[in-house]
Amino acid sequence: MISIKELDQQAQQIVRQAGQNAFEKMGEDYQVDIKTNYTDLVTTIDRENEQLINNQLRKIDPDSQILSEEGFGDRQITNMQGHVWIVDPIDGTMNFVKQHNNFAVMLALYVDGSPVLGYILDVINGRLYHGRRGDGVYVNDKKINQPANLGLRESLLAMNRTLTLSGNPSLKEIAQEAIGLRMYGSAGIEMIDVITGQLGAYISNLKPWDLAAGRMLAEELGLVVKSIDGRSINVLSSNLVLVATRQVSRDIRQIIN
Ligand code: IPD
Ligand code: CA
Ligand code: CA
Repeated sequence: MISIKELDQQAQQIVRQAGQNAFEKMGEDYQVDIKTNYTDLVTTIDRENEQLINNQLRKIDPDSQILSEEGFGDRQITNMQGHVWIVDPIDGTMNFVKQHNNFAVMLALYVDGSPVLGYILDVINGRLYHGRRGDGVYVNDKKINQPANLGLRESLLAMNRTLTLSGNPSLKEIAQEAIGLRMYGSAGIEMIDVITGQLGAYISNLKPWDLAAGRMLAEELGLVVKSIDGRSINVLSSNLVLVATRQVSRDIRQIIN
């Protein structure tokens, strides 16, 4: 059976191939479809990327399960036993369509429910953030240091649109306490910025493919990845997730409780 280290090497190439595909097709004619509502889009490039990634994963790790956003993975994943690959073929599809910037390809491997490999490719900047459990986190070939443990009042906070507009009083208080509020429209890019210390926290409602890779990388760097009230998260079910420094997580819990 192929080792985790070999899977890591191959997975980096697969993610880069998908990034290259998105980059090349970005300026061409492609089809854009609405998923749940007009703010939630999918393109033929999302589907192409997912098929490209899943086909390669099936070759290198044939006994694994694949959980992927656009329907080309395994139909039903009810348990996380063995190898489970989690795929977001383009994260930030709206940015891909409208900005040609600020989107990512994301992939993670969970083994028996624990995150083991994680990849977020910032396509436009050609930066692949990747990590293997116990081996640290890298951007391309450069190791990333653990970000400073700043508190909420010294940190920029990112929150998604739905939460920002929700009117929830606790979320409003958290946003007011932070030194500034940001919204990028790509969970992957926002989690990169927490990992590199540019943001102190990111709060969002995340699906498994939005969360899986960023969680792996953030936990490897000693960051907190929990539900907003401090409970552990289940990667298979949709969660209100906080990715933050330890101090920001404490500060937020004080506001919530
Ligand atoms: C979305 C983006 C967005 C977040 C949504 C995600 P998609 O991913 O990450 O920032 O607020 O919750 O669904 O649909 O572009 O892959
Ligand atoms: Ca996506
Ligand atoms: Ca996504």
